[in-house]
Amino acid sequence: MDARDLMALSPVIPVVVLPEVGQAVPVARALAAGGVGVIEVTLRTEAGLESVRRIAAEVPEIVVGAGTVTTPEQAAASAAAGARFLVTPGSTPRLLNAALDTGLAVLPGAATLGEMMALLERGLDAMKFFPAVPAGGTAYLSAAHGPLPAARFCPTGGITPANAPEFLALPNVGCVGGSWLTPRDALEAGDWDRVRDLAAAASGLGG
Ligand code: 3PG
Repeated sequence: MDARDLMALSPVIPVVVLPEVGQAVPVARALAAGGVGVIEVTLRTEAGLESVRRIAAEVPEIVVGAGTVTTPEQAAASAAAGARFLVTPGSTPRLLNAALDTGLAVLPGAATLGEMMALLERGLDAMKFFPAVPAGGTAYLSAAHGPLPAARFCPTGGITPANAPEFLALPNVGCVGGSWLTPRDALEAGDWDRVRDLAAAASGLGG
């Protein structure tokens, strides 16, 4: 699986911040039950890496990856935990080298034309546009398409069910990312039906 294949898995990649490891398997099962076959577990919490490991081991019906990968060590640890892809909020040469060395699909972050061009120079044409709304939203991405038609994006950061369709309609957008499928209160309450329903709605976007 490469980064373009990753973008084709679902119109929305759920970006999941897990406070507790015990939430990992049920949340992954709920997303899969809603028709979303991919989950990005952020390494922003202590529970992140172990959550990747558990989902990889126990929920074969979902493709699990690690998000918020900011160091070479996190890239290697995510691969060892069973992640199938890595997402970075921004790209540095050192981080990119380590992420690509894992052999996994990598969705590297970029927010400016120069950053996008640096990724294209390295042969990476699938990237995360982050933070999508603060960095200029659909207007910015449309403008980038003229000079950089080869780049394909997963905008993330400020995406909602309301604005996702506008992003998904752009010719250079493959999917979007967002945290709204797994609200903190639903995780805390163990409300997996709500997560499943949010996933079902998201999987119908862009269709
Ligand atoms: C990310 O890391 O991709 C974002 O924090 C997700 O952004 P959102 O919470 O605005 O969806």
